[in-house]
Amino acid sequence: MASTTMRWGILATGLIAETFTKDLLVDPKTRDVHDVAHTVVAAASSSSKSRAEEFLRSVSAPSSAKAYGSYEELLQDDNIDIVYIATPHSHHYQNALRALEAGKNVLCEKAFTVNAAQAKRLVAIAREKNLFLMEAVWTRYFPLSIYVRELIASGKIGHVSRVFADNTRTNDPEATWPNTKHRMVNPDLAGGALLDLGIYSLTWIFQTLYTTQSTGSAQPPSVVSAVTKYPPTGVDERTSILLVFPRSADQGGDAHGIATTGFRASNDTDGKGTSGPAVRIMGSKGEIQVWPPIFRPTKTRLILTDGTTEDKEWAQPGPGKGSGWYNGFAGGRNAEGEGHGMFWEADEAARAIVEGRKEGRFESLDESVLIMEVMDEVRRQNDLKFPEKIETTDKISL
Ligand SMILES: NC(=O)c1ccc[n+]([C@@H]2O[C@H](COP(=O)([O-])OP(=O)(O)OC[C@H]3O[C@@H](n4cnc5c(N)ncnc54)[C@H](OP(=O)(O)O)[C@@H]3O)[C@@H](O)[C@H]2O)c1
Repeated sequence: MASTTMRWGILATGLIAETFTKDLLVDPKTRDVHDVAHTVVAAASSSSKSRAEEFLRSVSAPSSAKAYGSYEELLQDDNIDIVYIATPHSHHYQNALRALEAGKNVLCEKAFTVNAAQAKRLVAIAREKNLFLMEAVWTRYFPLSIYVRELIASGKIGHVSRVFADNTRTNDPEATWPNTKHRMVNPDLAGGALLDLGIYSLTWIFQTLYTTQSTGSAQPPSVVSAVTKYPPTGVDERTSILLVFPRSADQGGDAHGIATTGFRASNDTDGKGTSGPAVRIMGSKGEIQVWPPIFRPTKTRLILTDGTTEDKEWAQPGPGKGSGWYNGFAGGRNAEGEGHGMFWEADEAARAIVEGRKEGRFESLDESVLIMEVMDEVRRQNDLKFPEKIETTDKISL
């Protein structure tokens, strides 16, 4: 089968842009993918052309890749098939809006936007212009996630009535981000645990209790939540959400999802999974467990009521040992030759564009909007506000 090469433009040059682009450039055959491939034709930095050049060198991009000193220039490049947006959450709406207006397909980092109104506006524009748009919730595209969803849909663990999902970090925010301008704690950049980490807890709740429901029967959940704020800046440092998904009696009745997130205490105290699973999917005939970190899990356990237990390891493929190639995130380094796992979502974006689909297969745009609505509701219940300039749907310069 002939493979189609997708030509990517990278918008922003921060930590995740680097991790994503390095994964993008791994030979897809190393993960047994033969129908699509990727190349980087350009990258842009909002600060300078030299920063974009430095970025392209750091990811070993092809020498033909262009460096731009502004996002506007990147969006005018006719050689780009799709733009990957990797700015802070606060900027996703304004950046994606401009990319869509320039006629570009878009893969936009999580959290999709700051609020649901912004997400709805982007979806409307993408549909109007017949462009591809996807929230870069990479975890949904992992073979591990596909396995879990298929197990649930097959009825193997019976009706799922409760899911716990926790994405927490031990970081002491005062010590880790002493500069309150850091995106993790800065309200001007839509900081806090909810939009950055809580999105993954919600991802697991939704992909097990909502995505797996048959089309038409999945109903939005009700939301009850609690937030503890981070005193220096007022963003959330700890958030717990109880979601109730309405379901008919023959589907097992209402299902409960408990999504938690935060700093200071973690489900993965030693970073080695010793504390046990961080996602527990409980059904009438068994349970599926997923080990942390839940944004990049590599271990599952299936336990059935008949006593069967099945452990699986899901190592990320890549160029392999002896390649001298490394990837990772924020200074963390995976084993030699081990991919980070961001190529799966890139493959899906490429396939969708080749097939003429306008959204990702494993998270519809409507579901991305619904999850933003849940986060809006959590913020409303707990008076968690961001500055108007990043909540607006108006086209403005930030
Ligand atoms: N999928 C994942 O696993 C994952 C992991 C981490 C982060 N993320 C998401 O990716 C996004 C970026 O996170 P990151 O950790 O890469 O952040 P980062 O290291 O701070 O990089 C963000 C980049 O955005 C650009 N930018 C434009 N305007 C900015 C502003 N006003 N303040 C700061 N940066 C600005 C900068 O690049 P230029 O100056 O070159 O334009 C900067 O390097 C966030 O939405 C985050 O949630 C996803």
